[in-house]
Amino acid sequence: MKRIGVLTSGGDAPGMNAAIRAVTRTAIYNNMEVIGFRRGFEGLLDGDVVPLTVSSVGGIIHRGGTILRTARCDRFTKPEGVREGVARLKEYDIEGLVVIGGDGSFRGANELYRLGVQVVGIPGTIDNDMAGSDCTIGFDTACNTALSCIEKLRDTASSHERLFIVEVMGRHAGYIALEAAVAAGAEFVIVPERHFDIEQLCEKLHYARERGKSHSLIVVAEGVMSASELASQLRDTSGYDARIVVLGHIQRGGSPSSFDAVLASRLGAGAIDAFMRGESGVMVGREAGAIVTNPLTLAWERKKSLDADMMSLVDILGI
Ligand code: F6P
Repeated sequence: MKRIGVLTSGGDAPGMNAAIRAVTRTAIYNNMEVIGFRRGFEGLLDGDVVPLTVSSVGGIIHRGGTILRTARCDRFTKPEGVREGVARLKEYDIEGLVVIGGDGSFRGANELYRLGVQVVGIPGTIDNDMAGSDCTIGFDTACNTALSCIEKLRDTASSHERLFIVEVMGRHAGYIALEAAVAAGAEFVIVPERHFDIEQLCEKLHYARERGKSHSLIVVAEGVMSASELASQLRDTSGYDARIVVLGHIQRGGSPSSFDAVLASRLGAGAIDAFMRGESGVMVGREAGAIVTNPLTLAWERKKSLDADMMSLVDILGI
């Protein structure tokens, strides 16, 4: 391959810049040219390109967000959009495309692959809801951000003997909620993967109060319900008065943690290695410490399951 393209798509995630840097420098190291498309598939369709060089990706490894910007592209969900994408790639003489994003972005990438484009995906989303990699780029940083916020809440919750509900991101997945709940020592976690029972929560809170606990923290993934909805359910069921905090997009920003910067660097290099081995239609991932490839389709065809032991841990440690 002489020239490759790279883009970031979907929700941004800390570490995407580190991945862009690793893709670019590994490609250049192997005598390839690199073109970046801005705003994901939107930029591919609009021809919004920027040449990437060794120096243009300098000083970005620890920057949050994505220098290529990102977007969710409706046009690319239609066959005409994908065909147009293929034509654009030909126009720019691009022989391989690296797509950094979540499962929605991988679906777009797979459509290109089905039309004969050489494609490799890099899993980048704070949600960590993609099979084929134990961790996605950005998940660790998002959990650390949530943790540092929850730790601060615990201080004030304990001073005022209050009940706090913290809403974290995760429309369809409870990975951030679970990780942050265990790390922060929350009393209760509510995730889309497990049935939620308000009576059970009230009983647990009641039991904790009875044995002298003066403050509690509940972490809820946004996909189940909002913090304010949960607060009103608690009020209606047992008269509990809870303060609420919605962490929102703060979880998507900030410098990548050491874990994410390293993961992104390894996966970025791994994507180019995959091209050089002649692989295409695959995603790179890290499984049990090793950099591996799997079909792009795995990201949405196989559901990654939440660790049941971790769920039990919240129940046990949060008594
Ligand atoms: O990046 C994934 C995610 O953060 C989800 O957890 C969240 O529901 C969604 O993106 C929100 O994205 P946006 O507000 O950018 O549409």
